[in-house]
Amino acid sequence: MTRHFLTLLDMTQAELNALVHRATELKQMQHAGERHEPLRGKVMGMIFDKSSTRTRVSFETGMAQFGGHAIFLSSRDTQLGRGEPIEDSARVLSRMVDVVMIRTYEHDKIVRFADNSRVPVINALTDLYHPCQLLADMQTFFEHRGDIKGKTVAWIGDGNNMCHSYINAARQFDFQLRIATPVGYEPDAKIVAAGGDRITLTHNPQEAVQDADLVTTDVWASMGQEQEQTQREESFAGFQVSASLMAEANADALFTHCLPAHRGEEVAAEVIDGPQSVVWDAAENRLHSQKALLEFLLA
Ligand code: CP
Ligand code: NVA
Repeated sequence: MTRHFLTLLDMTQAELNALVHRATELKQMQHAGERHEPLRGKVMGMIFDKSSTRTRVSFETGMAQFGGHAIFLSSRDTQLGRGEPIEDSARVLSRMVDVVMIRTYEHDKIVRFADNSRVPVINALTDLYHPCQLLADMQTFFEHRGDIKGKTVAWIGDGNNMCHSYINAARQFDFQLRIATPVGYEPDAKIVAAGGDRITLTHNPQEAVQDADLVTTDVWASMGQEQEQTQREESFAGFQVSASLMAEANADALFTHCLPAHRGEEVAAEVIDGPQSVVWDAAENRLHSQKALLEFLLA
């Protein structure tokens, strides 16, 4: 059976734990200049319906370091962008390449692609989830603080794709997740319910960060919501991760953000550029954790 990675729930807890540790190993090997080319001759198709810096560069670099190749496919210049059915595109592409990565809007689109693909499909962000970012965030926490099991994470801001993947991570890595959103911006109720008693919802950021070991946030307007920016700035007033909010978390709490960030909106510059921030490590770990994912799916 072809394994896909559409959400964190597509892997077992043991597989995810092993993957995060393997990511750190691959990082050490890369930093030591060791060659490791388990994907020689393998090709990845990368479908992008939305912009990207980290995701594109980390996947392309990872494939190159592994001895393989990646093809960037923008919806602007493929037939997919001109209306060729997603199912047909999946049938055709998966007869040529060895793995496909997709960044798009509706989550259903990636599910339909995977249903018609002969090769593994990786979710590189949909409106509903961003599981690859969570691999990097988990690797980063493990590297700085050890196992996240039993720890407390505070999510401050929008109940968006990143928030949904944090909920799945709480289930799979077994931590408590406190989510503080403005009224009307809560995460999907079904995804929250599936998280059970690991998930707490509040509308009070101060309450969410009490005893937190990791504080995280994301932009107030995601890709595709640009026209709501002004409205959202009003709704999210009071939800900035500021130095005073960080001061209410545990003294050794880490801060992370998937990036790109808007300093002065969801996070204060002194927090993201301060000593508790691990955002650059997390960004680098996109490369290593996705290499571990590719190795798991293909090698
Ligand atoms: N965090 C993240 O996915 O970044 P990009 O949008 O630059 O890929
Ligand atoms: N929530 C953001 C994440 C970007 C990596 C978005 O979907 O635009």
